[in-house]
Amino acid sequence: MKKYLVIGNPIEHSLSPKLHNHWFKKSNIDASYEKKKLNEDNIKEVISEIKNGKIDGINVTVPFKNSVIYFLDELTPVANITKSVNTIFKKGSKIIGDNTDVEGFRKSLKYFNYDVRNKTVFILGAGGVVPSIILALKELSVSKILLSNRTEKKATDLKKIHSDLEILPWGQNTDFDMIINATSLGLKSSDEIELDFPKTIRNKFFYDVIYNPAKTNFLLKGEKLGNKIANGKMMFIYQAQLAFKIWHNVLPKIDNNLLDE
Ligand code: ATR
Repeated sequence: MKKYLVIGNPIEHSLSPKLHNHWFKKSNIDASYEKKKLNEDNIKEVISEIKNGKIDGINVTVPFKNSVIYFLDELTPVANITKSVNTIFKKGSKIIGDNTDVEGFRKSLKYFNYDVRNKTVFILGAGGVVPSIILALKELSVSKILLSNRTEKKATDLKKIHSDLEILPWGQNTDFDMIINATSLGLKSSDEIELDFPKTIRNKFFYDVIYNPAKTNFLLKGEKLGNKIANGKMMFIYQAQLAFKIWHNVLPKIDNNLLDE
């Protein structure tokens, strides 16, 4: 039986095992997928288990998407550009890091029928998933990206890679067509993002990378003001689907009950 893992910290909330185990059943693949909470010190050991064949593949989530790179033999081009790895596999004797978040985010925009060409996108946050979102937006020919993060240094570090990013102080609002919450604010029901939106904003697109809860206070606010909203569930499902394809060479079906759950 093949063995797969998602590693992160915290990891309790991860729905990846449920999704992959569902697809194993549907595709008649004899495999198991579990979650494993790690500390930075344990990464080396887990990677060595891929090397010696005890584990067949790993998904990586917060906060290890960057720090795991040190332990890998090679990166795919997209993992190298974003310096973010969410999928690990073995090819020959080499351990390769890949990134399916970029394509997962792109596909989610397509699913929501949203075209970012000629649009201004305002990103809140500068954590692990943001380099992937920026790359996807750029590949889709976004007009402008504004970004704001509580810790400004992380935002200015991103500007070193993407010089056309415009950085705003945390808490300052701006004009946008689409706003993306890529912070962890919203995971708790009491979390609020302190941004004053004009009462008149309409027909913008509020996107939250968080999918549990399904509607964060950020999305509820956007919806109440009359804007289109989406949570991170489709991005999550698509990144998992693409990881599954890398490991098993099967693109599993996204059936309706996955969307409804
Ligand atoms: P990591 O930073 O380890 O990559 P992440 O979950 O990917 O973790 O990112 C968390 C994001 O949420 C960061 O942008 C973080 O801002 P900081 O860089 O200032 O830490 C943001 N975040 C978390 N808690 C926040 C809070 N209470 N207020 C504002 N931003 C917050």
